[in-house]
Amino acid sequence: MRHLIDIMDLSVAEIEDMIAVATDIVEHPEKYREACKYKKLATLFFEPSTRTRLSFEAAMLELGGQVLGFSEASSSSASKGESVSDTAAIVSGYADIIAMRHPKEGAPRVAAAKSDVPIINAGDGGHYHPTQTLTDLFTIRREKGSFENLTVGLCGDLKFGRTVHSLIAAMSRYSGINFVLISPPELKVPSYVKSKYIKEKGIPYRQTTSLDECIGDLDVLYMTRVQKERFFNEEDYLRLRDSYILTPEKMKMAKDDMIVLHPLPRVNEIATEVDDDPRAAYFRQAKNGKFIRMALILKLLEVGNEN
Ligand code: CP
Repeated sequence: MRHLIDIMDLSVAEIEDMIAVATDIVEHPEKYREACKYKKLATLFFEPSTRTRLSFEAAMLELGGQVLGFSEASSSSASKGESVSDTAAIVSGYADIIAMRHPKEGAPRVAAAKSDVPIINAGDGGHYHPTQTLTDLFTIRREKGSFENLTVGLCGDLKFGRTVHSLIAAMSRYSGINFVLISPPELKVPSYVKSKYIKEKGIPYRQTTSLDECIGDLDVLYMTRVQKERFFNEEDYLRLRDSYILTPEKMKMAKDDMIVLHPLPRVNEIATEVDDDPRAAYFRQAKNGKFIRMALILKLLEVGNEN
């Protein structure tokens, strides 16, 4: 039995296989309509979500399966003090696979130790968000054709933005990648991420506080929201929240084939006027999330590998 806690739990070859399956699902959805008949997905969301929870649920429904779960801790027995590991042990008796989001870093790994079914980390605190990374990789492949030789700019809250940490880890395995880390000094990439996935691998990178200074060099611009829910004081959040706002004027400085990604939700960091720019790929990215999560469910349930 496999879990997905960290994107590095998957090899590059496995990610390639999943991208191929997701592409086939986009092109031939009818082939998959009964693939998970009689299977159940439980979504245990101790933190708010729109895209991740609903795309997981849509994914299972489109595979012919069923869904159950909760969307806030207050409607579960966590509010009475039940532990994550007890919750996982119980729900693994009701469902065939579990997607879990939790505010505490490491909670999905604790759940996996007690679960009889695969656990998928759907975001754990400021740590990792591996299925967002699968979504990001699938989108980059569809938009750019390849992961090789890209200059990837990551902009905004690189400290608390868990999607950034997982994406850096995943992209560090491809050749010719260059990272540009764009953030205020207070919201830099944590040193454990930078050391393990950039410095130790000798990947070229630069850090800057200025988006204007580097936007013209980028093939991919990954914007992120300043993560209000992870700040200890509101004053710091208010000071930093509008550090970067991508506008049509800034887009004029970018390459004609640069793409803009954002895990969403956005607050102010991308002006809505950018949405009509063909390089704005973030709504396509959110839609891709359903297809790659369908491929992930098939993989973890070993559907199609029965012989
Ligand atoms: N990208 C993402 O995780 O969105 P949600 O918080 O809406 O799930």
